[in-house]
Amino acid sequence: MSYETFLNEMLVKLKHVVPEPEIYIKAEIAYEINRLKAERNAVILGHNYMEPALYHSIPDYVGDSLGLSRIAAQTDKDIIVFCGVRFMAETAKILNPEKTVLLPAQKAGCSLAASITAEDVRSLRARFPGVPVVTYVNTYADVKAESDVCCTSSNAAAVVESMNSEAVIFLPDEYLARNVAQQTGKHIIFPSRQKAEGETDLDYQLIGWHGRCEVHEQFTIRDIEDIRAQYPDVIILAHLECSPEVVAASDFSASTTAMIHYVEQSDAPLYLLLTECAMGDNIAAANPHKEMLRLCRVRCPHMNEITLEDTLAALQKTQYVIEVPEDIRVRAARAVERMIAIG
Ligand code: 13P
Ligand code: SF4
Repeated sequence: MSYETFLNEMLVKLKHVVPEPEIYIKAEIAYEINRLKAERNAVILGHNYMEPALYHSIPDYVGDSLGLSRIAAQTDKDIIVFCGVRFMAETAKILNPEKTVLLPAQKAGCSLAASITAEDVRSLRARFPGVPVVTYVNTYADVKAESDVCCTSSNAAAVVESMNSEAVIFLPDEYLARNVAQQTGKHIIFPSRQKAEGETDLDYQLIGWHGRCEVHEQFTIRDIEDIRAQYPDVIILAHLECSPEVVAASDFSASTTAMIHYVEQSDAPLYLLLTECAMGDNIAAANPHKEMLRLCRVRCPHMNEITLEDTLAALQKTQYVIEVPEDIRVRAARAVERMIAIG
């Protein structure tokens, strides 16, 4: 494709959400990334939270954590460039030990992944012997390696139910655990709280942790009330990392890709997305006749570390290479592959 055609496509797609001078600058960088991507036999995976100019120009595939893990498991390219956060790039490496996996930023962490260590999981296992451990993919490889199976927000309830166990340890997102408890009808207990009188360790079916997403924990019932008062017809979509109260007050809650599909398939003209603000821009660009409200006071600083400039540098300099020690990778792969097999 010529540069003029590429630029025009970006201008048409992004004109409602990105200032025109910015599109001119970013189109040049994106065009060079795509040239280099082909030259180096690379694939670019882009999470739904990438900023709109990046999201709509360079990824071969966009999606949520589960969708991108599935694609990472199938690619035949030599290099995987992951435009997302570190735990996502690590998951790609876990599934592709022979390939070079690049993360365009040096850190790109996640408050959930930072909330738990492999030692924490070992302690929980010692405290609750025989209870299976389901771990959200928003964790690092050593934590996945201590787990029986991983899950994402799009399959958490199905994974928990597939355990066929009275009790499940669900780590590390407190809110996702409580939302999954609502969906599956399971009780939940947090091991840090005092036991109630007469309660034994296995009186409960879901054992949670205290991790939270620093973005989604900030949305409140008050936000929802304020928006509904101003826009009575608004449809409110919340990510499952929001509190159960916020989820209950919303019209729909799910993973990022399921939220996107909901907007695509619905006729309503106005939506509020309780999730990373950039996703609202991405949906608005793809659905120009629908209006997206978003509360952009809360942003994910980690996802926002990924830029077009750094993605170009990643391909030029082969940086930053993701490595996972083989003994950890093999055990983590079991948990991730088991999740992919469940769906
Ligand atoms: P999804 O798997 O729904 O894309 O969520 C990932 C994430 O980090 C949300 O904050
Ligand atoms: Fe982690 Fe939350 Fe950022 Fe997602 S939005 S990467 S869960 S901090």
